[in-house]
Amino acid sequence: MKYYCFPKAAGIDSLELRDGPTPQPARGQILVRMRAASLNYRDLNIAKGSPARGPLPTNLIPLSDGAGEVVALGPEVSRFQVGDRVAGMFMQAWLGGDMEAYHVDSSRGGSIDGVLAEYVVFEQDGVVRIPDHLSYEEGATLPCAGVTAWNALYAGKPLRAGETVLVLGTGGVSIFALQFAKAAGARVIATSSSDDKLAKAKALGATDGVNYRQHPEWQQEVMRLTGGRGVDHVVEVGGAGTLQRSVEAARIGGQVHLIGILTGGGEINPTPVLRRNLLLRGIYVGSRQMFEDMNRMITLHGLHPVIDRVFPFAEAKDAYHYQTSQAHLGKVVIRID
Ligand SMILES: NC(=O)c1ccc[n+]([C@@H]2O[C@H](COP(=O)([O-])OP(=O)(O)OC[C@H]3O[C@@H](n4cnc5c(N)ncnc54)[C@H](OP(=O)(O)O)[C@@H]3O)[C@@H](O)[C@H]2O)c1
Repeated sequence: MKYYCFPKAAGIDSLELRDGPTPQPARGQILVRMRAASLNYRDLNIAKGSPARGPLPTNLIPLSDGAGEVVALGPEVSRFQVGDRVAGMFMQAWLGGDMEAYHVDSSRGGSIDGVLAEYVVFEQDGVVRIPDHLSYEEGATLPCAGVTAWNALYAGKPLRAGETVLVLGTGGVSIFALQFAKAAGARVIATSSSDDKLAKAKALGATDGVNYRQHPEWQQEVMRLTGGRGVDHVVEVGGAGTLQRSVEAARIGGQVHLIGILTGGGEINPTPVLRRNLLLRGIYVGSRQMFEDMNRMITLHGLHPVIDRVFPFAEAKDAYHYQTSQAHLGKVVIRID
């Protein structure tokens, strides 16, 4: 089979296409013919060998998110049949309940091999069925970005109809959060560096948009749009460069979901957090239970993940470069023909 790997994590151009034996499923495992994979911001850091993550496995097969068809079953597999359409979970071991340290060690495309390959063996517990109305390309966007947005809005103190959600930027996590919030009857305010992207976000259901380049103090615009009250939820993907403003954009008693570090790490001033009585909640993707809950909502509402562009398997490096450019809105996908 053909697969991609990083012999050393020395940047996107160190990604190598290789040929190797097709893996075979052992007891309790399934073999999946991957049809599509999608990129996340994380994958760009992994390509560079981000020191915060520690040493990566040698010849790591990258990408956590992919979908495909079950083509063979190992002995004693009862959860799936040949022909089932599935997506792998980000953390293979986190089935439900609270996250444990060992769950993180089972993260695809980082701690263990990922899905940018024609065939991948999974434990039968490490995948979920994708909704019937989704293509493989759409299903491949769900495991990290989709589940993360779901976890933020529903797995803690859940979003309620009529509340207001602020999403930062128009990347994968933020656009899923926009769709989930809209479907739940919430108001969505989106920020972006681009008026063109804000127009697209509004077409997807955002009520209001704020260009954070034109309004560097965008939290003031959010306050204005909410009549001085602030938003109920902030989907905080920016990190240190945006967090203080996100705190100021939240209503008293609101929630800030700490998801991303697009602007890097840094210090937090705790005073406005406590004075505003905020809940700051760290999010690390999510469990299989969250994934399945999310899929039920996606099915019920007939939602389609927003795919910006699909690249052929042979052009995987171009997909990485496109994701790096941040020209996309929603998800960047690689089709595995
Ligand atoms: N904790 C977790 O489990 C988890 C899971 C998934 C992702 N993440 C993190 O969440 C972040 C987003 O991930 P992703 O995969 O969704 O990224 P992505 O698709 O690459 O999104 C990039 C977009 O973020 C927006 N952005 C960049 N800088 C910004 C800023 N200063 N303020 C507001 N928006 C900004 C831009 O949108 P515009 O072009 O519209 O400005 C950009 O296009 C990353 O830091 C990632 O590591 C964490």
